[in-house]
Amino acid sequence: MMGAGNVGQGVWALLESTRAEILHRHSLDIRVKKILVRDASKKREKDIPPDLLTQNADEILKDKDISLVVECMGGEQPATTLMVRALESGKIVVTANKMAVALNWHLLDAAARRGNAGLHFEASVCGAIPIIRTLNDSLQVNRIDLVMGIVNGTTNYILSKMSDEMRPFDEVLLEAQALGLAEPDPASDVEGFDAAYKLSVLASLAFHARIPYKHIFREGISRVQVTDIAAGKDLGYRLKLLAVGKRQGNTMDARVHPAFVPEKHPLASVQGAYNAVFLHGDACGDMMLYGRGAGATPTAGAILSDVIYALKHHEPLYPSFQNTAELHADLSVTDNWQCGYYIRFSAANRPGVLGHIATKLGEHGVSISTLFQRKAESEHGVPIIVITHKANEKDVHAAISAVDTNIAQVESSIRVEGI
Ligand SMILES: NC(=O)c1ccc[n+]([C@@H]2O[C@H](COP(=O)([O-])OP(=O)(O)OC[C@H]3O[C@@H](n4cnc5c(N)ncnc54)[C@H](OP(=O)(O)O)[C@@H]3O)[C@@H](O)[C@H]2O)c1
Repeated sequence: MMGAGNVGQGVWALLESTRAEILHRHSLDIRVKKILVRDASKKREKDIPPDLLTQNADEILKDKDISLVVECMGGEQPATTLMVRALESGKIVVTANKMAVALNWHLLDAAARRGNAGLHFEASVCGAIPIIRTLNDSLQVNRIDLVMGIVNGTTNYILSKMSDEMRPFDEVLLEAQALGLAEPDPASDVEGFDAAYKLSVLASLAFHARIPYKHIFREGISRVQVTDIAAGKDLGYRLKLLAVGKRQGNTMDARVHPAFVPEKHPLASVQGAYNAVFLHGDACGDMMLYGRGAGATPTAGAILSDVIYALKHHEPLYPSFQNTAELHADLSVTDNWQCGYYIRFSAANRPGVLGHIATKLGEHGVSISTLFQRKAESEHGVPIIVITHKANEKDVHAAISAVDTNIAQVESSIRVEGI
């Protein structure tokens, strides 16, 4: 093993408690020989024999008796280099590291092929949810045109709390940090980096083409206002941080952004730290997988299931596509994202305002699904909320900028998906 932190100790403990069953069910006697850590003298929660711990990676990489490496160190480096070395020397690698896979999958894949070794990463996306194997294996014949997930538990917890208790983002974030549900530096979660790494992996498998991380548009939740969550809720929508990949023919687009989904959409019911991935394929139709997306034991379960799979399948399973650092030449990123839009205006309290807004949207080909005028909360303006039908994002932006700011000002605009 490489890493004995949260996940690593979860793997250790779950293996200890299931070793006999694994042996009985699969005739596999799995033993941990060495565990790479940064500081071998550190006190650990689980009772790991001290002689297993090492600070020297070569004790693992150069040991011919070690056939499989579980990487749960995290970070791009040195994890990538160590995994490449392990794979090149023929060792199977099982990893939970979304960052390393999203950024360096082409290097890891090439090393795996050179070493004729397997590379497995179920735990890197959505913890316990078996989405990687489902895409890699069960849904192979499908042409998937949509993958849309709640893939970050921290942000879903924060948005659920904001929605249930009508409390602002900053307050709920502080509480989540105090409870250990958000990192002291929350940027990776709340600004959508973590979700974008996961989407890069998911969209690549779904669309049978490498979707590099750099092509993923990213917008986090730190500017989400509770006023909009409340207004959306009143109109039958729930706000989520969505990781969405869409493919149409030879164009695709992948984005992480906060978006409303109709309350009847299966993703709307995903609450708290849970994750889910909704997808659409031509053969399978709509489908959703739901479960725990993080935590030591759920993640350890995914890792050990990869270990068993890898040891039982002697032929390594490689991606069905050419795994390059760049987007494949046959595929291009569309700049024509289509979705609904929720727009909150603050309008002058005078006749003709609604007509002006509707005209400007109409002139840009954007049709209105719901138009709602709330009671004025102050003398500063009347809140007007518009929800559009599906439209080109560019047209919506053009329409918004055409609205006369003496008549109505845009306070916020949020995408609507799943319509
Ligand atoms: N936490 C979750 O719920 C979760 C869920 C899914 C996937 N993951 C992924 O799992 C991985 C591990 O996460 P975690 O939460 O377990 O992290 P963590 O608690 O920070 O543990 C990291 C472990 O790696 C060791 N390590 C880090 N850098 C090292 C280096 N340069 N050399 C040697 N050892 C090093 C650390 O050693 P010391 O203990 O000596 O410091 C520690 O044991 C990450 O890729 C993460 O994205 C986590």
